[in-house]
Parts: sequence; C-alpha cells; structure tokens
Amino acid sequence: MIRWLLFLGLFLSVAFALSPAEEAKRQRRLFLEQSGGVHPGELFVALGEELYQSLEGNGKTMADCDFGKGPGVLEGAYAELPRYFPDTDRVEDLDTRIKSCLENVLGLTYGQDFGREEVVVLASYIATFSNEMPINVKLEHPKEKEMFAIGEKLWFWRAGQMDLSCAACHDRYPGRRIRLSPIRNPEQGLSDHWPGYTFSFDKMYTLEDRVNFCYDSIQIPHPEFYSEPHIALALYMRYRANGNLLDVPGFTR
Ligand code: HEC
Repeated sequence: MIRWLLFLGLFLSVAFALSPAEEAKRQRRLFLEQSGGVHPGELFVALGEELYQSLEGNGKTMADCDFGKGPGVLEGAYAELPRYFPDTDRVEDLDTRIKSCLENVLGLTYGQDFGREEVVVLASYIATFSNEMPINVKLEHPKEKEMFAIGEKLWFWRAGQMDLSCAACHDRYPGRRIRLSPIRNPEQGLSDHWPGYTFSFDKMYTLEDRVNFCYDSIQIPHPEFYSEPHIALALYMRYRANGNLLDVPGFTR
C-alpha cells in the first residue's frame, strides 16, 4: 500500500512538474488531436487575408496602411507592437492600429463598414507575419514610457469585490493552476500566443479579448476595446516578454 502511494506521489510530481510552456504545448497537442489535426485558427487567418486584400476606400487599400514598418510591410510589424505612431500621435496596439487605419486611410466607419469581427480576423492574419519572431517592444518615445507606466499601474491595481490584481494571480502563482489552466507571468509567455483560437469558446481572441476575459472572471468591468487601458496593459506585458518568440495563431483551451 505504502509503496503504491509512493509510486502515485512520484507519478504526480512528475506529471505536474511540466513548465508552463511545456504544459501549454502538451495541451495544444491534445486539442489538435481532438480537432482532427486541423488548426481552427488558420481558418480565421484565411478570412483575414481575404479581407486584407479586398477592403478599399478613398481609392486606398490596406496596403496603404502602416503598421510600423512602412505602408504595406507586414513582416515583423506585430513583434514591435504596441508602439507610438506619429500620424495618430498615440501609442497603438494591433487592434487599435487596424481600426485607425481603416478609419483614417480608407475612410471606413466602425460599426457600419466593419466591426469587431473584421478587426479580429485582420489581426489574426497580420500577426502571422511575425510568427516565431522575438517580441521587441521599445520604450523610446515619451508616450511609450507614459503608456508603460499606466500599464504597470493597472497590472498591480487591486480592485473588485475579490480585491485582486493581474499581478496577484500572474506574478504570484506562475506555474500553478486554476482548474486545469496553468497560470503564466509575462516572461513565461502569457501574451505570446495571441491572437489565438480558444478551444472552449470556439472563438478567435486577440490579446484584448483575452484580457477582457480575465477582467470578467474577477468581476471587474472590462475596458472598452481599443481603449487606453488595453493598449497600456499590452505594452506592459509585451515589454516584459521581450525576446520571447511569438507563436501565432495560438491555440488554447
Ligand atoms: C483570479 C486570478 C487571475 C487574475 C486576477 C487575472 N488572471 Fe489572467 N489568467 C488567469 C488564468 C487562470 C488564466 C488562464 C491561463 C491559461 O488558460 O493558460 C489567465 C489567462 C490570462 C491571459 C492569457 C494567458 C495565457 O497564458 O494564455 C492573459 C493575457 C491574462 N490572463 C491577462 C490578465 C490581466 C491583464 C489581468 C488583470 C486585468 C489578469 N489576467 C488577471 C487568472 C487570473
């Protein structure tokens, strides 16, 4: 009996000793097997590609949009977002930049000519041009530094009935689990695989959607899409993740 218990203990300690990155890989492999080996995220990426090539307005197309590397250059652009853009005079993440480009360059109206779903598939497509590249977010422009400070404040801000902050879970318990989910800190890659497909919801999520989900789960009203808190948190998490390789489209529970 004792021997069996010892054996069980050893088995459990080995089974749960996987690092969060290994654990994520293991879960991803399992889910991919369950979905017949097809990565559903690729379907959203394909939709995004179609849209990227067909949207037009003001005699312009999305190839006239500058995601930070010059108009029409997508390679490596996402790896450096969020960043400061002189034309809008603010720091933008990928979701926000897509929206401001469609509005300012193509003259389209959000909520009328395009909406959240379009932004999500476009983000999924554009992000793939930075797949497997190291995250390289800079704090050079004063507005980038300012945004980082806001993000840092939000990360440690305790709020809601549960009096929780992002740091309370992600920095205090990295490697531990809530239900089956391993908790990661930014260095361990919590922001590296978004936009990603979420198996449990059968949806494509950008980092903004995923952050909203965490706000919801601790019962704090989540920020509006494209708002300063989202951009600030993305900049904060991504800066801490500098050097990590992007893995998009992601695939998670
Ligand atoms: C109650 C604890 C808790 C709090 C508070 C919390 N999170 Fe989370 N967060 C989790 C758990 C659990 C997951 C799921 C991990 C998984 O599925 O890989 C998660 C996942 C995430 C992810 C996706 C990570 C991944 O590895 O795929 C991001 C990004 C994230 N949280 C950001 C935040 C931000 C920003 C805040 C503060 C607004 C926050 N979280 C607050 C528990 C928390």
